[in-house]
Order: sequence, then structure tokens, then C-alpha cells
Amino acid sequence: MFVFLVIFFAILWLIYIKLKCFTLRGPVPGQPPHFFFGNLIQSGLLFGSKPISDVYISYKERFGDIYLFWVGFTRYTIVHNIDDVQYIFNNRNKYDQGSIFLEKVSILVPDSIICNIGAKFKRHGAITMPLFRRNKILSNINIIIDGTDQLLDRWRTQSSEHVHTDIVEQCQNLLLEVFGMIAFDYDLETINENLSENKNELTEALKYIVDVFRMITYAPSIISTTYLKYNPRYQRARTTIERYLNNMVEQELTESLDSRTERKKISLIASLVSSLQTDEKAEAVKKEEDKKGISRKELFDEMLMFLIAGYETTSTALAWCIYQLSKHPRIQEKIKKELIDDNTGQYLSFDHLDSFVYLDCFINEVLRYSPTTDGTSRTVVVDDCLPSSGTRLYKGDQVLIPSSALARDDRHWKIDPNLFYPERFLNEDKHRHPCAFLPFGNGHRQCIGQDLARLELRIILARMLQQVTIGDGGPEFNTGGCIQRLTIVPKHVGVTIQFS
Ligand code: HEM
Repeated sequence: MFVFLVIFFAILWLIYIKLKCFTLRGPVPGQPPHFFFGNLIQSGLLFGSKPISDVYISYKERFGDIYLFWVGFTRYTIVHNIDDVQYIFNNRNKYDQGSIFLEKVSILVPDSIICNIGAKFKRHGAITMPLFRRNKILSNINIIIDGTDQLLDRWRTQSSEHVHTDIVEQCQNLLLEVFGMIAFDYDLETINENLSENKNELTEALKYIVDVFRMITYAPSIISTTYLKYNPRYQRARTTIERYLNNMVEQELTESLDSRTERKKISLIASLVSSLQTDEKAEAVKKEEDKKGISRKELFDEMLMFLIAGYETTSTALAWCIYQLSKHPRIQEKIKKELIDDNTGQYLSFDHLDSFVYLDCFINEVLRYSPTTDGTSRTVVVDDCLPSSGTRLYKGDQVLIPSSALARDDRHWKIDPNLFYPERFLNEDKHRHPCAFLPFGNGHRQCIGQDLARLELRIILARMLQQVTIGDGGPEFNTGGCIQRLTIVPKHVGVTIQFS
């Protein structure tokens, strides 16, 4: 009898979950989702190699500008209507940070800025955001040049016939080294990582954390939390990273108070350590609005989040740049010509960088054509109606802005968006809709590191192309494609590097 009752209530519960969570309702169209997996299997996201950006485009063709899409248990309203997209970004009181950050990323780094809203977001923002504004990051030019030169030195030791098939890893190591110095004043020595076993363990640990992220976005939070808690590899990776982060904090604590006070306006680690609470217990019981500074746990989460956000995205973008250069010799020559015409020799200053207009067009075109991230999301804070499409949304709904698909939507581009053509940003597509191209998101939660990412890409590419020509490694190695990880990473990159 007892077993019968258990089975009976289990079936009732499953029917309730199916009707409540996995059933199309209301006027917004979509593909009826599977129980538990939502649209993940039908769309080819779970087992296929399709990036999510392609899925958005094919679903838009089937269901129109606004449709429902289930990523596992999470139901999203995907918004391709560009005026509605603009409305969502402009109304921060109605649309705040998405649940993918508040619930999923939170499993990894709950006390970092990306996972918080309201007063806690402001408290963390005051300590971190000002450091990444344009005028604060300019002093880092030489760090970026030094890192690039180290990579060039490694390349110089290899033959010009050698096909580099590990460009993604090389870009990750370069950006980790550079970001470690910029944000934490700490030399992670990742460019020459083969030289020391110790260095490999940090990059390996970070890569593992980035890899588990995809599983976290698809699975229900309870499954992800339990999996990570009992996963020895994840626990080892956390311990390794924690050791490095502790070393960085300890190094900062050896600095004099005067030095820290001076540097906290331009250095993330100096700002974070200066903000450490002296009495954590007293702060913990205060209302969020009254709290000052950050706890040691918040410091750790903030450092880990910035480390991942700071290297993974930009290194992926750089790898795409290198791939596209290898496929477009005409464009590469034009960038090189701009660098030579500027008459800088090998000297780079911010004024020079500002004059590399075509290089900027190229970077924009890479971010548009080969997007690093597929989009962003927001949580609906109050019931609302999207003004252009008339779609009704309810408190707690998740909206997703598929920026990668908007960047390929021919309604918003004068020149065919399926063409790789940097010149579009100089002329025909210069005055496009403000939401057609959003590689760094928009509104009050847009990317904090966008100025830094652009500065890094400009300097690294300018420095490289002053000295080398990137060649196509041939049909066997340089076949393209991409893998959906935390970012959308180029799959088969195989390039040659020839010094001039
Ligand atoms: C090419 C490189 C990069 C790309 C494509 C990129 C893209 C993005 C996107 C799409 C978002 C979400 C924005 C939104 O929801 O409106 C974001 C948020 C964020 N990015 Fe980046 N990013 C890059 C580099 C960086 C770097 C270098 C840093 C580190 C300084 C960084 C730190 C962050 C942080 C902290 C957030 C969360 C902001 C918030 O929640 O308020 N990003 N990024």
C-alpha cells in the first residue's frame, strides 16, 4: 500500500512539473519542450556541436521574432525584435540581471559582482568598476606589449613552416599572463608554462572550472551543486586556484599602506585588499545597505570571477582574430599597411592606437561575425508588456537577448551580414541600430571589462602584425568550426607564423 502511494504521488508530481514547467502556454510560440531537457536535445545543443547562436537563428526562422526556448528547466523568452531589445536594456527598473548569473554562475562564485543585484551589486561595483574605465587602464600598455613580445619570442624559435594548432591555448596563456599583471600585479608566468610544472596547474584548474560551467548552465542547480560538491577533480581545481589567489593577496599585504593607497585607484588587487572588512562578524549582521567593504570570502569570489571573465573572453576573441587573419590575406595586408603608414616603427602609444581605424574595424567585424558570447539575459522584475511586439511578460520571467543572432540579422545591416567585411564599420553599416551590434551587452549590466578587452586586442594585434604574417596552415588543419564552451571557441585553427 505504502509503495503504491509513493508511486501515485510521484506520478502526480511529475504531471504537475510537466504542466507547470515544460508546457507551452499562452500566445508566445515555441517548440513543445521535453520533460527535464527542455529544448536542449531537439535543438541539437546537448549532443550536437551546434553553437547556440545558430540555434537562435534557426528558431527565429521557424517561430518569428519572439519565442519560448527551454534550456533544461529554465524557460526563456527569446527576443529578436530589436526595438524591444532596446527597451529591455533601457529599463533597468523592470529588467535586472538574468537568472543564469544569479542562480547558475552563483554556484561557482556567489559573492562576485556578476551574481548580485541591488545594494550588494552597488557595494561591489564601487570597489571594482572604476578600475576598468578607459582612463584607468591606459597605464597597462607596456604590460600588454611585454606579454606579446614573450609570445613572439617563443614563435621566433619555431620554423615558419610549423603549423600552430594550439592557438586557442596560446591566446589563453597570453591573456592570463597579461590579466594577472594588470589586475593582480602578479606574474602567473603562463606564457612559458611548459618551463615549470607548477604553472600548468593553474591554467589546468581554470580550464576545468570553465569547462564545468557549460554543464551548470544546462542542469538544475541542485544537481550541479551536488555534482560539484562530490567531484574530486573540481575540488582539487578550487584548492589549486585558492592557493594562487591567497598568494596574490599575501603579496599585496606585504606592500606598504602608502603604496596600496596610491595604487588602489588603478589596481584591482590593491582596491580589493584595501576594502577588506576589519570586523567581518559585525558587518555580516548589518543590513546590506549599511555594509561597508568586502569580506575575505567576497574577495576570493571577486578575484576568481574577474580572473575567468578577464582571460577567457578576450583570449577567445584573439584566437578568432588570428583565425580570420589567416583566412583573409587582403585584410591582413591592409592592417599591416595602416601600421606602416602610421610610421610608428615598433613603438606603440595610446595616440597611435587611436589612429588604427581599420584595425578597429577588423576587431569589430571579428566580434560581430565570430561572436565570443552568444547573448545575455535579464529577469523581469515587474509584469510588463514589450512595446514593439506587444508581448506580455510576467515577474520572474527570463528574457534572453540573442546578440549573436542580431549581428547576423539582415534587417539591421546594409551589407550582407554573412560576409566577413570589416569596411562595413567605416561606411554603410556605421550608422546601424544601436542594438544590432552588442558584443559587450548593454544597459546597467553591460561588460565592465570592455575598454580593457579592446585595448588588449588592439595592442596585441598591432604588435604581432608589425612583426609577423599569419598564414593559413592548410585544409588539413585550418578547417574552422566552433565549440560552445563558456565562450564560443574556434575549433580547428592551424596557422603558420612568418617573421618579416
Ligand atoms: C572580448 C572580450 C569580452 C567580451 C566579448 C565580453 C562580453 C561580456 C558580456 C556579453 C557581458 C554581459 C553584459 C550584459 O549582460 O549586458 C559581460 C559582462 C561582464 N564582463 Fe565581459 N567581456 C569581455 C571581456 C571582459 C574582461 C576583460 C573583463 C574583466 C575586466 C570582463 C568582465 C565582465 C564582468 C565583471 C561582467 C559582469 C557585469 C555585471 O554583471 O554587471 N569582461 N561581458
